[in-house]
Amino acid sequence: MRILTLLVFILTFIGCNKNVQKIADTKSPTDRIEILLSKMTIEEKIGQMVQYNGFWDSTGPAPSEGDSKKKYEHLRTGQVGSVLNVSGVENVRNMQKVVVEESRLGIPLIFGLDVIHGHKTLSPIPLAESASWDLELIEASARMAAKEATARGINWTFAPMVDISRDARWGRVMEGAGEDVFLGTAIARARVRGFQGNDLSATNTLAATAKHFAAYGFAESGRDYNTADIGTSTLYNVVLPPFKACVEEGICTFMNSFNVLNGIPATGDKFLQRELLKGKWNFDGFIVSDWGSANEMIDHGYAKDLKHAAELAANAGSDMDMESYAYIKHLKEVVEEGKIPMELIDDSVRRILKIKEKLGLFDDPYKYCDIDREKTQVFNQENKDEVLEIAKKSIVLLKNENNILPIKKDQQNILVIGELAADKTSPLGSWRIGSDDNTATSVLEGIDNLGIDYHFSNGVKLVEGNVDFINEVKINESDKTGFEEAITNAASADLVIMVLGEHGFQSGEGRSRTKLGFPGLQQELLEQIAEVNKNIILVNMSGRPLVLTWADENIPAIVQAWQLGTRSGDAIASVLFGEQNPCGKLPMSFPRSVGQVPIYYNKLNTGRPGPNELVFWSHYIDESNDPLYPFGYGLSYTDFTYSNVNIQITDTLKHEIKVNVDLKNNGDVDGREVAQLYIRDKVASVSRPIKELKGFQLADLKAGESTTLTFKLSESELGFYDNNGNFIFESGEFEIFVGGSSDTKMSKTIEL
Ligand code: BGC
Repeated sequence: MRILTLLVFILTFIGCNKNVQKIADTKSPTDRIEILLSKMTIEEKIGQMVQYNGFWDSTGPAPSEGDSKKKYEHLRTGQVGSVLNVSGVENVRNMQKVVVEESRLGIPLIFGLDVIHGHKTLSPIPLAESASWDLELIEASARMAAKEATARGINWTFAPMVDISRDARWGRVMEGAGEDVFLGTAIARARVRGFQGNDLSATNTLAATAKHFAAYGFAESGRDYNTADIGTSTLYNVVLPPFKACVEEGICTFMNSFNVLNGIPATGDKFLQRELLKGKWNFDGFIVSDWGSANEMIDHGYAKDLKHAAELAANAGSDMDMESYAYIKHLKEVVEEGKIPMELIDDSVRRILKIKEKLGLFDDPYKYCDIDREKTQVFNQENKDEVLEIAKKSIVLLKNENNILPIKKDQQNILVIGELAADKTSPLGSWRIGSDDNTATSVLEGIDNLGIDYHFSNGVKLVEGNVDFINEVKINESDKTGFEEAITNAASADLVIMVLGEHGFQSGEGRSRTKLGFPGLQQELLEQIAEVNKNIILVNMSGRPLVLTWADENIPAIVQAWQLGTRSGDAIASVLFGEQNPCGKLPMSFPRSVGQVPIYYNKLNTGRPGPNELVFWSHYIDESNDPLYPFGYGLSYTDFTYSNVNIQITDTLKHEIKVNVDLKNNGDVDGREVAQLYIRDKVASVSRPIKELKGFQLADLKAGESTTLTFKLSESELGFYDNNGNFIFESGEFEIFVGGSSDTKMSKTIEL
């Protein structure tokens, strides 16, 4: 009797598996999904809504003990829809095989990973890339990342992070596009296009994720995971637009966020997920929770236990549970108790299956498992050349007194100081899961590659101990062993290049800081070197804006070099020695002092903008209101001048205008200018910021060349969201500014 049952089971199982193939062969995508759905048990449906972290041992059978054993069983019984952090063709194939060949319905897994700025070959960190303002290069960088990650078996990235943030203390600013909604939205679109391409079923495109929905970048005090408490105007006008743009670009998935927004944890927020995203915006992909965020609703004081968390998250529209175990453990019970209608479960499963279908996984679950591609398309020369281009364009020249830069190639006696100059790992930045340590070109190697002579004095050791999650980065606060040698050598050098900043893991998730100076003894060393040699070029490698106020007052040249990825050193050297004319512009304001944070250019005016002689205006008594370097700022080795701004109203009814401005390269080297257009809506039913970016253009001009740039604006740029989330345009006076930075004063006012 038992043997008979087993036989029936095996036959059913084989039959079902063949069914998937048959369905895939013959039906339209929607029919296939509906047929599949009709065959699924409630356990299998919930299974699709479960995502596990990887646990596979690629060289042997699945582990047989503990949690891993249970997870493996869940794979075999169709109770897992996706895994994250499994990569490499062999690993992916092995795991996919279990699901496809052993589970009853053989529904393929979707493999997710944080492919944030490249995979093995790394582009600059996203904040740095954003400083290029070059949407084509940013799109190409995401495309290269997709090409590499898919060659390693991955078909879903948890990127782009489109969280706007105005707070440099928050370590995750490195992962976003900075403080501005217009730039951030354009970059979000470019990244989605890069990852997903035109054809999701191709083998070299990935499903992308807009994260973290929503307001994660507004964590109070810049402390990661902290509460976000923002008003509706900021929510609609600053936080949400990049997410909406991702939906318009056809993004496959969203990730909700860890934070509470107005008292509701995002994972359990019905308004955000059901009403807005899936309702008003018509998003047809699926939402994955952030890591354990369903479970965290217990600590938020919103769910009483894990079962309640499952109910709240699923009801709110969170389709897939990343590592909370809430759905696998409790969702069935919650459905059976009638706390969640079956239609909602079906809706989630349909959404997940649809993305798998779009990726072509039903036609070929192993389509990303091509060992030859893995060997030839990852970390190859083509990719390394590609990331060099964007690395060069991401560098921002902050100061260049007396044109001390670029360095003349035959300059005698150049001294390089700072451990980061020799570091081949820090420049890779945070979020570099697929890459290997020591694979970036260091600054020293970059200078070497240009054939230039220099001496190197370590000066101060920045990092001690191992860099890993447990040990973290240790900052040297006491060992001044290298000081003496560095100071002696600096005294006799013609020029000193000091490479200072943060270690690659001092920004990123969980790495919030209250101090935004150079960690450890670096500032002290800088000051001591400046006493013996004034010819210093400071190269700042950091994952966020740092406070460079002392340096700005005392050091003639400052280069913002972020963490630029695999070709970091080459890019930096090319700017230092003039092979590349710097053209980056800041995507975030650099504060003068931490006390100014959050600081951003598109602020409201307040009722007391000042300045005046009395004390009662909106200011600090110990610091100016202005940032040290504003949003949009960046110098070049040449000079650009703007003139002749003129505005034409091209359509009075539709409120369309054309803004022309002449731009000239006045210097004797070719260069690129990022020309920017800002507006100020003078009077509105909701107070508008003193300036808002509404257009930008890259102008590559030869020495002495001029051009006329034309910007077009319509209601979609001139309008705004009211406090009910409706986009409106209001007639009245608009001041239109153009220039090379957000502090431009060149403007004309029009009445519309
Ligand atoms: C992060 C997400 C990330 C996820 C998976 C979380 O801790 O907040 O951005 O995608 O982990 O690695």
